Amino acid sequence: MTDYNRADLVALAAEARQRAYAPYSQFTVGAALLGRSGKVYLGCNVENVSYGLSVCAERAAVFRAIGEGEREFIAIAVVTENGVTPCGACRQVLQEFNDGSMEVVVADAQGRSRVYTLAELLPAAVIPADLKQG
Ligand code: THU
Repeated sequence: MTDYNRADLVALAAEARQRAYAPYSQFTVGAALLGRSGKVYLGCNVENVSYGLSVCAERAAVFRAIGEGEREFIAIAVVTENGVTPCGACRQVLQEFNDGSMEVVVADAQGRSRVYTLAELLPAAVIPADLKQG
């Protein structure tokens, strides 16, 4: 795994969290996704009056990165009030572009953090190669 500074990535996620649009849940989330190129892509949750259209911070960051041409990810930091881990949908979207070795750093508003690999959070994942015939 490429070296990177976890504290810096968490700080960027905390910054992104300030831009969250979460008027319905009041649960603000920020994500900072480090690509192989060294660039960091930020995301925040964006809710909608039609609740089901809301998008999590992690997926917002992934979509931004892919749109900018990044395809490989080293780590993602996610900051919330209480340090929750990414939801199942976001784990699967991260898996699409990773072999499970990327780090997922979750931190709370006090800066307490835990580190997982994606494979720990999404064991036995369905992967793109699973769709190949025979
Ligand atoms: N949310 C995220 O952005 N990421 C997570 O990992 C958990 C949930 C958002 C979705 C919704 O806007 C709010 O947090 C409450 O579920």
